[in-house]
Amino acid sequence: MTPEGSLLVAQDLHKAYGSTPALDGASFSVHPGEVVAVMGPSGSGKSTLLHCLAGIVTPDTGTITYAGRELSAMSDAERSALRRSDFGFVFQFGQLVPELTCLENVALPLRLEGVRRKEAERTALGWMERLEVEALAGQRPGEVSGGQGQRVAVARALVASPRVVFADEPTGALDSLNGERVMELLTESARSAGTAVVLVTHEARVAAYSDRDIVVRDGRCRGLEYAV
Ligand SMILES: Nc1ncnc2c1ncn2[C@@H]1O[C@H](COP(=O)(O)OP(=O)(O)OP(=O)(O)O)[C@@H](O)[C@H]1O
Ligand SMILES: [Mg+2]
Repeated sequence: MTPEGSLLVAQDLHKAYGSTPALDGASFSVHPGEVVAVMGPSGSGKSTLLHCLAGIVTPDTGTITYAGRELSAMSDAERSALRRSDFGFVFQFGQLVPELTCLENVALPLRLEGVRRKEAERTALGWMERLEVEALAGQRPGEVSGGQGQRVAVARALVASPRVVFADEPTGALDSLNGERVMELLTESARSAGTAVVLVTHEARVAAYSDRDIVVRDGRCRGLEYAV
């Protein structure tokens, strides 16, 4: 794993919650268009790593560089703007706005960037077609299945052409067939758009869709070949 040519690089991250260490010298990098699976036991620091990489959580020490810019050197407003313009997110559940239709949910990142409704919804519908959920455009999130909801969430994560998508257990609440379809569509869509994906997962089968796997143990990252 070399930081050269990387889009996002984390070096020697430490983060503690009170006396609980969550990250203890974690280093990580991802190239443009690369799909990296982050695995490891519960409590090992995967979500904390993802949140640091995405600029949501600030590490106690260590550096994170995105496209040559250090995240810690940016203001909160600059980091928020970067998250909106360059990053997409898919979480385990509860991420869609219940009051909006699925189409409005997918269009939301574009609307927040100032794109007009008609154009935003046209682009959103195109992504819903790719994720095979266009028939749900007028439904609200409470009226669709878990797998359909996750595909809507993937469409929303990709709609604004992010350079990195962060996914934390995106298939954790799904049965295996639905989970595989979500993974397939997420990684295919990201690859066709040249989007890097950082994918946290418990499930080894999900790693079948990645270009590279790393394991987090006790707050440190290793390449899978070094895992014990
Ligand atoms: N907000 C928080 N406040 C206090 N402790 C936290 C917080 N977030 C994480 N931790 C602790 O930090 C450590 C790493 O947690 P993290 O959520 O990163 O693990 P994880 O690998 O994502 O686990 P899981 O697979 O269960 O999601 C754990 O010991 C956890 O209890
Ligand atoms: Mg987690």
